[in-house]
Amino acid sequence: MTLLSVNVNKFALLRNARDEDRPNLMEVCKKCIQFGVDGITVHPRPDERHTKYSDLSDLKKLISHFNNIEYNIEGYPSDEFLNHTIDLSPDQITLVPDPPEALTSSFGWDCEVNKNLLKKIVKKIQSNNIRVSLFVNPSIHSLQYLNEINPDRVELYTYDYAKNFKKDKSKSIQPYKEVANFINSNFPKIFLNAGHDLNLENLKYILDEIPNIKEVSIGHALVCDSLTYGLENTIKKYSSIVKLKKL
Ligand code: PXP
Repeated sequence: MTLLSVNVNKFALLRNARDEDRPNLMEVCKKCIQFGVDGITVHPRPDERHTKYSDLSDLKKLISHFNNIEYNIEGYPSDEFLNHTIDLSPDQITLVPDPPEALTSSFGWDCEVNKNLLKKIVKKIQSNNIRVSLFVNPSIHSLQYLNEINPDRVELYTYDYAKNFKKDKSKSIQPYKEVANFINSNFPKIFLNAGHDLNLENLKYILDEIPNIKEVSIGHALVCDSLTYGLENTIKKYSSIVKLKKL
């Protein structure tokens, strides 16, 4: 089964535009959960222009009132990030190699170059009983090092898939299928997540082509679509794609 996790950073960005706590992030997250998402993802960055570190414990409290809602916190594993996240015991921490000034995550980890850093941090997070996912490019070369790093999941960075989808969807999914097969056959204990630039047009195809994706995290397109369809209808549209996938 694939879970739909909504990345609420863009709602927080809108809230931060004025000093009025509108929209209230907890109310938005509560609605997202009531309308059918399976999880909430946040990506606090050092400048706190999206979700702030102070949002993290409020979200933890909110999510704990619901059954089976996944709390995923993603970000660069600086000491500051780890200090704000590990003690909260989210369900998952997704490690992303984005520099502080990044507009959005635009590449996954080079697992060869960052092997020792990732090994140490993955172990530290797992020793606190938190699942760890690594944001990765669809590159078999880099993923060979996963056996030493030993994360629980990898999140496939789907920007290239989404960018090329309109031109040639079968070609755009090919590297992702190869990587998914590589991981399934070489690391049967590492499961797959996917995220970035997924939307109402391209979501079904990736889920049909790579049927064992455990979680998709979707932010930008879902927030944009909710301006057109409303939040409830938008979540229902995404959620029905996730639930209707083949299998
Ligand atoms: N996954 C990661 C690691 C991200 O950094 C982001 C964006 O913050 C997403 C998924 C969601 O991407 P999008 O906003 O394009 O849906």
